[in-house]
Amino acid sequence: MSGSVLVLGANGRLGGAVMKAFEAAGWKCVGQVRRAPAARGKAQWLEIPLEDSAALAQAAGRIDCVLHAVNPPYPQWHAHALPLARRALDIARRLDALLLFPGNVYNFGAGMPPLLTESTPQEPTARKGRVRVEIEAMLREGARAGARCAVLHAGDFFGAGHGAWFDLIIAKSLSQGRVVYPGRLDLAHAWAYLPDLARAFVALAQARARLAPFEVCHFAGHSPTGAQLIAAFTAWARARGIVAAGAQLQTKTMPWGLIRLGGTIVPMWRELVEMRYLWDVPHRLGGERLRELGVEPTHTPLEAAVAQALDALFPRPAG
Ligand SMILES: NC(=O)c1ccc[n+]([C@@H]2O[C@H](COP(=O)([O-])OP(=O)(O)OC[C@H]3O[C@@H](n4cnc5c(N)ncnc54)[C@H](OP(=O)(O)O)[C@@H]3O)[C@@H](O)[C@H]2O)c1
Repeated sequence: MSGSVLVLGANGRLGGAVMKAFEAAGWKCVGQVRRAPAARGKAQWLEIPLEDSAALAQAAGRIDCVLHAVNPPYPQWHAHALPLARRALDIARRLDALLLFPGNVYNFGAGMPPLLTESTPQEPTARKGRVRVEIEAMLREGARAGARCAVLHAGDFFGAGHGAWFDLIIAKSLSQGRVVYPGRLDLAHAWAYLPDLARAFVALAQARARLAPFEVCHFAGHSPTGAQLIAAFTAWARARGIVAAGAQLQTKTMPWGLIRLGGTIVPMWRELVEMRYLWDVPHRLGGERLRELGVEPTHTPLEAAVAQALDALFPRPAG
């Protein structure tokens, strides 16, 4: 069942990936952006601010699903994330559309169990986690008042665009044969390969007739230990000739002490320290609710997903 989707924040990592996935599935795609997109494709683009929800809804026309891919800068997150989510709900209501909302694992806090299911209690321990819980409570309330909303929780994004743990920290010095891992190498960490996650959103949208007014689902994605992730990096680095066959990448740990100190001056570093526990507490997401709904997300094997992501970050020189 295809339809029409309005993607809010269509220039971002998730935004770009879902625009491609919905288009590939034959949906009519409308992207809301703050600046013209790099490639226009077949989609319709609206440079209308979210604040102008009436004009945005009117310009979008008939829409079945609104996907919230907006993300305020990390240091401004706690002030802006909730108001932006309210805008998304308002726009979805005006269009009488299902709101698709990307959740993360911040809701579960530092005491989270290794397997996060849809019924795991949400007990956030960081400010960003508390905001996440507030957002979902607001969406649930909206659904009680007649809106429709599906939250899809996922781990850290990789595989589209720049600006995340994957490229800013872990892969940053890969061309010099070095990776930096933020946590213990024997603990699992939840990741979402964006092309797979984007296709899961499409599948969820296609299942919209079967959804309750408020759904919370988990996208399992990948949950390698640090060592397993670095093994996938190593396979790629060997294939590229960055390290010799049989040789290892140099693995460094993150200088958390320095980052903690610097956090008194650099807002972004303070935010990173707040979320450090995500690298010390093993966790993975189970995908039970999606299975119940008959939604089977595609699962690109880890080594292939990492290779694709790294190829995009480090394109081969021409010739
Ligand atoms: N990143 C992760 O690992 C992760 C994991 C799970 C869930 N999520 C959630 O997924 C969503 C998308 O994340 P992302 O990483 O794809 O985001 P992103 O790449 O940082 O992109 C965010 C987009 O939001 C737009 N934006 C920011 N503030 C805005 C505002 N005030 N008004 C309108 N547009 C605004 C930006 O526009 P410009 O391009 O004009 O700056 C950008 O295109 C977020 O809700 C995030 O919390 C993220």
